[in-house]
Amino acid sequence: MKIFLDTANIDEIKTAADWGVLDGLTTNPSLVAKENRKFEELVPEIMQICKGPVSLEVVATDAEGMVAEADKLVEYGPNVVIKIPMIPEGLKAIRRLSQKEIATNCTLVFNATQALLAAKAGATYVSPFIGRLDDIGHIGMELIDQIVTIFDNYAFGTEVLAASLRHPQHVLEAALAGADVSTVPFGTLKKIMKHPLTDNGLDKFLADWEKVPK
Ligand code: G3P
Repeated sequence: MKIFLDTANIDEIKTAADWGVLDGLTTNPSLVAKENRKFEELVPEIMQICKGPVSLEVVATDAEGMVAEADKLVEYGPNVVIKIPMIPEGLKAIRRLSQKEIATNCTLVFNATQALLAAKAGATYVSPFIGRLDDIGHIGMELIDQIVTIFDNYAFGTEVLAASLRHPQHVLEAALAGADVSTVPFGTLKKIMKHPLTDNGLDKFLADWEKVPK
């Protein structure tokens, strides 16, 4: 499973890249707004650091406008993926962009039939939002199971990008369910690499090393 970082924060992106675990990046308008910087200044910096797929989201809500935005966004680099909301005009835009061989990420997916339609339209990725389904009392992870099964049944090439993952258990379950990608906030990335027994074990090894005659 690929691990993408779900952020637009340069320090977080740099740190994950230094750790060697940055397979790609997802952003959305809310994450970009948090950085309080001009989009056209922020994105080139992001592209300098992240060499894997970088999802940049359109804000137009009509297919014409989405495709026009996409044509500009792809100028930021060959690894740009155009993030498009799961609405009828979004499907239309995904179809047109896939015909132009522009990678797309269909976002705000909350049920498996939406994912099926996005795949049929030619999306490169679909982004089911797990945490937001949990928030309203559903079992979000069931959606990953369903989409993985459907895509396997019909051999769709579209990748399942598990999004809105809020904690390590989400990442574990997405991996067990066969998601192609998990996109995680920086805090979750730090948590999934940590275990207290690792830290305690290392402390003990280093303390014992001091006892070795030098
Ligand atoms: O990638 C989508 C993700 O950013 C949404 O996460 O936590 O806002 O539901 P959240």
